[in-house]
Amino acid sequence: METKLGLFNEKRDRLNRILSRYAGRNMKSFMDLDWRTYSGGAVPEKYKELMGLVSSLVLRCDDCISYHIAQCLKLGVTNGEFEETLMIGLIVGGSITIPHIRRAVETWDEHVSPKRKLLESLEPEVLKILDGEESPTVKMQKISDLLHEKVPHYGWFGFYLTDKNDDKMLVLGPFAGEPTEHTHIPFGKGICGQAAQTMKTFTIDDVSKESNYLSCSIKVKSEIVLPIVRNGKVLGELDIDSHETSAFDAIDESFLSSICERLSSLL
Ligand code: SME
Repeated sequence: METKLGLFNEKRDRLNRILSRYAGRNMKSFMDLDWRTYSGGAVPEKYKELMGLVSSLVLRCDDCISYHIAQCLKLGVTNGEFEETLMIGLIVGGSITIPHIRRAVETWDEHVSPKRKLLESLEPEVLKILDGEESPTVKMQKISDLLHEKVPHYGWFGFYLTDKNDDKMLVLGPFAGEPTEHTHIPFGKGICGQAAQTMKTFTIDDVSKESNYLSCSIKVKSEIVLPIVRNGKVLGELDIDSHETSAFDAIDESFLSSICERLSSLL
């Protein structure tokens, strides 16, 4: 099925090819400036795209709106972020923007992936667990059980916590899935250890290409590890293995990082 964005992108590419034959130096520099302006800098790329979306809505340029929607989808913008951004456009631009909002929502809805719909449908249940009265350990166990059961590409879902007696060692915490022999992982070792050491999220599309990797099972094809950090200290991390290659993208990252952020204030 040809989607609105698919057709839009096709036409945009075709017109760009024609334009590049006509564009002189100044026009090409301007296009380049446009590209660089939207690249991540002090303001992350995602927020720049949301700003582009508001401006396009207020100026009522449907092509510009479609372009920024495509970028927002790639960057894992959530439904909530999308709706609030449109609302800013509506406030600034007034009711005349409403027909453009209708078309924007139609485009968005057509492209929101089933995976995103699934993760967003699970969000209220996860938030309920996080806001509950139980201990952080019980909360992490419930989240592991829920997401491991409900999300098909989360083959193993678990938490590692920084050892209370050794702040350079990860200890296996609550998890759901097959038991793992990797119950203690030093910082720097494997994907988990590297994420802890660098305090950065690691998304590995194909674990077989990694030299510094600790295998839990030959079934595992890809992995995501998100550190849980508070005041510059790694409290632990969330680790998910998948039996599919390239299973994780910006949608997972955005969903999972909000869980880690909430947990960082509980641990
Ligand atoms: N693969 C991880 C080890 C932990 S298991 O995936 C549960 C790593 O390379 O650090």
